[in-house]
Amino acid sequence: MHRRIIAPGALAAASLMLAIPASAASHSPGAPGIGDPYYPAYGNGGYDVSHYDLRLKYQPATDELSGTATILARTTQDLSSFDLDFLLDVSEVRVNGAKASFTTSGQHELVVTPRTPLDKGTPITVVVRYSGVPSTKSAYGFNTWHRTPDGAVAADEPEAAWWWYPSNDHPLDKATYDVSVAVPDGTQAISNGTLQSTSSQLGWTRYSWRQNKPQATYLTTLAMGKFDITTSTSEGGVPVVNAYSKDLGDNDGAARASVERTGELVDWLSGYFGPYPFSSAGGYVPNTTTGYALETQTRVYYSPKQFAKGSNASVVVHELAHQWYGDSVSLKGWKNIWLNEGFATYAQWLWSEHEGEGTTQELADYVYASHPADDAFWTVKPGDPGPDHQFDDAVYDRGALAIQELRKTVGDDAFFAILKGWPQEHAYGNASIADFQAYAEKVSGKSLGALFDTWLFQPSKPAGVALAKSAVVQPRSWKKIAAAVDGAH
Ligand code: ARG
Ligand code: ZN
Repeated sequence: MHRRIIAPGALAAASLMLAIPASAASHSPGAPGIGDPYYPAYGNGGYDVSHYDLRLKYQPATDELSGTATILARTTQDLSSFDLDFLLDVSEVRVNGAKASFTTSGQHELVVTPRTPLDKGTPITVVVRYSGVPSTKSAYGFNTWHRTPDGAVAADEPEAAWWWYPSNDHPLDKATYDVSVAVPDGTQAISNGTLQSTSSQLGWTRYSWRQNKPQATYLTTLAMGKFDITTSTSEGGVPVVNAYSKDLGDNDGAARASVERTGELVDWLSGYFGPYPFSSAGGYVPNTTTGYALETQTRVYYSPKQFAKGSNASVVVHELAHQWYGDSVSLKGWKNIWLNEGFATYAQWLWSEHEGEGTTQELADYVYASHPADDAFWTVKPGDPGPDHQFDDAVYDRGALAIQELRKTVGDDAFFAILKGWPQEHAYGNASIADFQAYAEKVSGKSLGALFDTWLFQPSKPAGVALAKSAVVQPRSWKKIAAAVDGAH
């Protein structure tokens, strides 16, 4: 238990100068949430992080993680205290060099009270020393830290950071990262960006990774385990680093046959979305048992289950599409999830068409036709699905259908200009669906309010869609198209 301590120096100053309590009275605690209606306690108020430096040590045998987080930030209000989102055990916090008092609150709040209040606009350096066994910690009754037989993985959405580093856990506060992790010799540590160095000392090998472009907290990933790491450069010049657990068994070949195509697929997507926004690309396949994949920035997380039926270039296309739609251009709030999943799914449709496995229109027709009007599928509004339905099929498939409708409404020239222009318009920033609609209206010169309302914001099946002739397809093609649609998210 942590007691609040009043530093002796602060008491002496207060008794000497009346001005101090008066000015301190205008300072108030930072909000415990950043203000996202889907997740009121996620993120925090009162400061903006520019960089996280995480220097850690991990022991796979016991799942013990320890180290120091150094956070560079700037205050955005007069602050008496502020929160970080975190679950591990903290032993010391310093703000601008001075020991700060701290306590825990709510489900995942670390409340830090600096020795002296902080004025608005002050650069701050926050050092948090910590340790803990992430697999033993939970918030709201869940835990997203994935232990594996040889290590662990942090990769989930929207909650992943609480189990391994203290943060302002919301996409609105993006920052650059240095993630350096020491693991026992023979184990590897994978994270985002470029590998700056590896060094070995006293039986431990340290892997130091750098992300030099703004990155959302949930897109920051960490994996420790026994990996085979491959490096290459795409034809278009993007350096690629992939990693495969040495324990993938029967999935090993299909995993490599998919993820080794990262360079080719990054270059192919650049044709639609513009230049790849980061200085490295790649993915990793650890020996986890959960089924999803995640667009962790520059280094995509793939469950081996994504490759259980064979190679799956489609999931690689999906996760790489997110590097533009979701990672470089991030959400302003979680209700805007369609901006991520709708476009990543549409990229899979473009790939399907490229591969001759069903055109975008055939896939759109299939989604429309395969869900009758009374199917609960149509009750989920892709434009505002609610926190419990953020990753429902409707966000992905109806979401991509909405994009095909947009394409038909504005025409191919405007549509592909929008697809390529949007990631430039908001590169490394945040945006909302309303921002996207305004941008699409500007580029196309068309008023799109009714279209967006019908396809994204109505809890019912839109009527009156004239199916393309191609929707009348043979059973074998239907099966193929279903496979492309169900492919993978
Ligand atoms: N953004 C991910 C994808 O579609 C989805 C992650 C869903 N999260 C989860 N825990 N299943 O690529
Ligand atoms: Zn996705």
